[in-house]
Amino acid sequence: MAKKIGAPRGTHDLLPGETAGWEHVEAVARDLSRRYAFERVEIPLFERVELFARGLGESSDAVEKEMFRVGGAAGSEEERAEWALRPEPTAGIVRAYIEHGLHVRPGPLRLWMIGPMFRYDRPQAGRYRQFSQWDVEVLGDPGPAVDAELVELAMRFYAEAGLTDVVAHVNSIGDAACRPGYRQALIDYFGANIERLADDSRRRLEVNPLRVLDDKALAADLADAAPKSTDHLCDACRAHFRAVLDLLDAMGVRHVIDHRLVRGLDYYARTTFEFFVAGREGQQDAVGGGGRYDGLAELLGGRPTPGIGFGLGLDRTVLALEAQGVEPPARVPVVAVVGTGDDHADRLRVAGELRAAGLAVRADTSERKLGKQLEAASKVGARWAVVIGEELAGGEVGLKDLESGDQRQVAIDEVAAAISG
Ligand code: HAM
Repeated sequence: MAKKIGAPRGTHDLLPGETAGWEHVEAVARDLSRRYAFERVEIPLFERVELFARGLGESSDAVEKEMFRVGGAAGSEEERAEWALRPEPTAGIVRAYIEHGLHVRPGPLRLWMIGPMFRYDRPQAGRYRQFSQWDVEVLGDPGPAVDAELVELAMRFYAEAGLTDVVAHVNSIGDAACRPGYRQALIDYFGANIERLADDSRRRLEVNPLRVLDDKALAADLADAAPKSTDHLCDACRAHFRAVLDLLDAMGVRHVIDHRLVRGLDYYARTTFEFFVAGREGQQDAVGGGGRYDGLAELLGGRPTPGIGFGLGLDRTVLALEAQGVEPPARVPVVAVVGTGDDHADRLRVAGELRAAGLAVRADTSERKLGKQLEAASKVGARWAVVIGEELAGGEVGLKDLESGDQRQVAIDEVAAAISG
């Protein structure tokens, strides 16, 4: 036998039997996108490396360490790796917004998408090299009400998915006016404690001191006593953040202020937030996160446009639901159409009629005996069997309850009602 080929590390196949949980969280995300009046967008899975370098920041982990480079075919002009698989969608969506002049549309623009992202990280539980996000972005709204609305939307997503004990962590990291002062305060503080910092953090202190707060290895006492961004906000940012918090209170959204929440991507300004299941609040365990990125459009060559959004991790949400023992909602029961002899045309025709009526149908197209077909139907989880016999001439079929074994004759166009009744 030829040698088997395994899936790449850090990826996972979604197999039959595992899909129900996924379909459930995706359905909740789609339905909420509709109910919150977002419009769907799609962007490429790969973009120019420069887009991510400029948008997310050269020193972000996503760019510095985790970029999945992509080149063109051998011998092509683009053979060198000048693209990267998207580590996240926000930069690509803002690129599309600028490229297609979407600012002329009546705003604010409310956009959503679901899709895979790629980060060449060390794989471990809940951390993959390919993972999916439900992403929403609002462009053209400076907040603060929309900031609170998005936190509320994310919390509603977890609640409707069936996840309990989710806490929203929120913070404000200021803007171009007040962040320099805060940066300096961090440089002074951590500079005085440099010997207690890990190598990575020492390096970061130079380039991006906020990220030192992100360091999982940072000693708790050092972190606790570190300068807080909220103590360094300018008046406008302080008023903005106060308003976000008041709105969250007014809406009854459970949240805590998290002074270490600086986020790993450089485009953020003002409001940042992340979602955790209570008791699992390690950096690696966020089930979602996002924030405001008012300077990003300008950084990417567009006109100044306020923006805010989030990415909720679908893989981690499914894992968290499993850990809480939440069963996905029961699926539509499957009906098996079975028959005898060479009545395959009848089986397919009846299956077609039942499908047209909205039922989920498997037609048994084998030559097996009726008893074997019924056995097989039960094994694959069918709840009902439609048995085709002579009564078909009068428009009737046998409807067999595969749990109780009861069978009765019904008209084909009454099967759907008989099942749901
Ligand atoms: P992020 O915090 O990098 O933000 O990712 C959002 C969520 O994606 C995380 O909270 C986590 O649930 C999930 N996630 C991230 N990396 C992995 C991984 N390696 N394996 C599994 N799940 C992962 C962003 O990506 C921003 N674009 C969010 C945003 C949108 N900000 C503004 N708009």
